[in-house]
Amino acid sequence: MAGRLVLDYNNMMAPRIGEHGLAPEALDRAAETFVGVHAEVERRRAAGQLAFFDLPYEDQLVPQIRAFADGAGQSFDTIVVLGIGGSALGTIALHQALSRPFWNELDGEAREYFPRLYVLDNVDPTTIAPLLDRLDLRRTLFNVVSKSGTTAETTAQFLVVRERLIRELGQDGYRRHLIFTTDPERGVLRRLAREEGIAALPIPPGVGGRFSVLSPVGLLPAALVGIDIEALLAGARDMDQRCRTDKLAENPAGLFASLQYLAHTEKGAGIHVVMAYSDRLYACADWFRQLWAESLGKRLDTAGAVVHRGPTPVKALGATDQHSQVQLYVEGPFDKTVTFLAVDELPVDLPIPSAYPGVDELHYLGGHTLGDLLRAEQIATASALAEHGRMNMTLCLPRLDAHALGELLMALQIATIYAGALYQVDPLDQPGVELGKVLTYGLLGRAGFEPPARSEPDARWISG
Ligand code: PA5
Repeated sequence: MAGRLVLDYNNMMAPRIGEHGLAPEALDRAAETFVGVHAEVERRRAAGQLAFFDLPYEDQLVPQIRAFADGAGQSFDTIVVLGIGGSALGTIALHQALSRPFWNELDGEAREYFPRLYVLDNVDPTTIAPLLDRLDLRRTLFNVVSKSGTTAETTAQFLVVRERLIRELGQDGYRRHLIFTTDPERGVLRRLAREEGIAALPIPPGVGGRFSVLSPVGLLPAALVGIDIEALLAGARDMDQRCRTDKLAENPAGLFASLQYLAHTEKGAGIHVVMAYSDRLYACADWFRQLWAESLGKRLDTAGAVVHRGPTPVKALGATDQHSQVQLYVEGPFDKTVTFLAVDELPVDLPIPSAYPGVDELHYLGGHTLGDLLRAEQIATASALAEHGRMNMTLCLPRLDAHALGELLMALQIATIYAGALYQVDPLDQPGVELGKVLTYGLLGRAGFEPPARSEPDARWISG
């Protein structure tokens, strides 16, 4: 259907790809199961347990974000987001998809005088030190994003930046160069915001990191660089409305989740590749990888039994990975699905000049565009996979704009909740991540935390 996100799943099905595809009867059964899954999700939503669903309808947050982004925020040349995991990946996905490419290299006019944006989602000093050295701190705003306020990577980044800011701008001046995005009540960042008068925006209660892209976590940096956050939220609302039906065939998020679940549990395809056929959507594949992995990879099911369940998401980029991964996808084990992210109408295209009339290897390209070639490569890869009996589907965006991105991000978040219900795991917790955080505290000597037990490595296993 023109004008909105479309999911084409023909190549998931046995009539199209043969015995390794899903039987239509399996999908019929899934449609019956989905009625219960949908009812359960609606019940949890009504009970206020799935707060991310409300984000596109929040009418108080957008004015707060706008007030800062269009006011104080525009007095800076550069924005640096400090955050990790769900506090960073959504922002990177939005910026890559919706801002002009090579943003930080553009001059002010080409950026329409919106600031440059860096997202520091790691603590590697070989990246952070040179960046801080080259920034003009008097013209830089640091957005510290942490729901908990306790994540070691983010708090360490904050301490490094704070010390530099104080050195450069003094005890009074530095606060104006910080804004926290954090829990509305709890955590050390909220406390510092109150005590030191640092600006802060709330992450609504119950919205966890990987479901926070449509909260101030993603919306503030997006608004600061001129992305149309109202259109983004409108797209998310439209998708939410499409997903309010328990008819599986009409519910894109339900279909995506059910197809992936069936592929895993009935066909052993537990590796879920998302392959973006657009450089601009590659970071969306990365964002999805975290969402799917952290939400569904669980030791316990919802009844408390040890199950060690979950699919393995993988990101890939077309056409680049046709020359890297696709050989494996087409001929390797039958353990994968591939979901293509495609765009109907690219914002920019480039004609391929017609030349060398006598040289077949070059001449056939003339008259086409690079966009034609990219589309042809996606269709060709999907067909090659299908011919070899490999399940694949395509999520096609009508355009690369904020509305379409809102639809896509909302669809994949809702799909993750449905998938949690299908796999019978809690998609909102992440005890494995928390364990790593706690052991890091122990290793760095935080009071009340123990380091992990470690034995000395055996000398026989060390070479050199
Ligand atoms: O999705 C999640 O919950 C995590 O990836 C968190 O976003 C990540 O661990 C960072 O947590 P916090 O925002 O509390 O600093």
